[in-house]
Amino acid sequence: MSRIIYLNGELTASNAARIDVDDRGFLFGDGVYEAIRVIDGAFVEGPPHMERLALGMEGVELSADAASIVSELTDAAGRVLESNDLMSGDALVYMQVTRGAAPRTHQFPTGGVRPTTYVSATRFAPPSAMQERGASAITHPDLRWRRCDLKTVNLLPNVLAKQPPHAAGAAEALLVRDGVVTEGSHTNVFAVLRGVVRTHPCTNDILPGITRANVLRLARTEGLRVDERPILVAELMEADEVFITGTTTDVMPVTWIDGRPAGSGEPGPIARMLLEKYLTDISGSRSVVATIPV
Ligand code: PDD
Repeated sequence: MSRIIYLNGELTASNAARIDVDDRGFLFGDGVYEAIRVIDGAFVEGPPHMERLALGMEGVELSADAASIVSELTDAAGRVLESNDLMSGDALVYMQVTRGAAPRTHQFPTGGVRPTTYVSATRFAPPSAMQERGASAITHPDLRWRRCDLKTVNLLPNVLAKQPPHAAGAAEALLVRDGVVTEGSHTNVFAVLRGVVRTHPCTNDILPGITRANVLRLARTEGLRVDERPILVAELMEADEVFITGTTTDVMPVTWIDGRPAGSGEPGPIARMLLEKYLTDISGSRSVVATIPV
């Protein structure tokens, strides 16, 4: 179904929009992106998402002027939401910046090539039923590069990891590097071990999830003990509870891993409590799209 999207300064129908075949996003995956939840026309945690996008652009040396691109995309998001009648209810905004279109060379193009800027928005259905009953997951080798902290559009390892659980009717791949669970294919991973909420620290091996940060803050506020330390796969299988977090996932209890029950095999009390606190928090912490500081 066609929808209105923003591409390089213009609002246009998605099925009429044209990306140059020389675009470096298309040829090399040379770009960065964000996915932001929107409730009633306002970004959930807008400033940290836009800050991560700016840091990503700097991280891959994509633009000398990340701030002006961030402000262009912020403004475009408001226009796209309005054009698609998404100013009320739940929506998801996707934004992407690539290094632009230029004859194919591995090194950066010269001569002031303009980055390609793209924003789309779709209706979002919160995964409430799965949160209620818990999700299944499958472990998978983490075959990604060593800058997983950058949210680049190079998602092939994530795509390949997500397919086996999807085909098996499971919700997520839990990525394992050197015996450690780094994160999910599009989520961060938490475990509750002897009452302590554990998650991988923010190193180059994981994306610093905005939801992850929020959930850690809420856990601390609730007086829970929190430890940002790698979780071994063996520990995951012994955990009292496992859950994943992300923009499209909120807090999702994981109740089966590799065909075995995780924890009690039911959503655990800490995951449920954090989900409830998180949902309350995001309905109160929204920032109006048009006034996000950059
Ligand atoms: N992905 N880890 C990875 C690899 C991710 O791709 C994501 C989000 C997360 C969670 O981050 P956050 O809480 O900021 O959404 C962790 C988005 C939703 C996506 O690719 O669509």
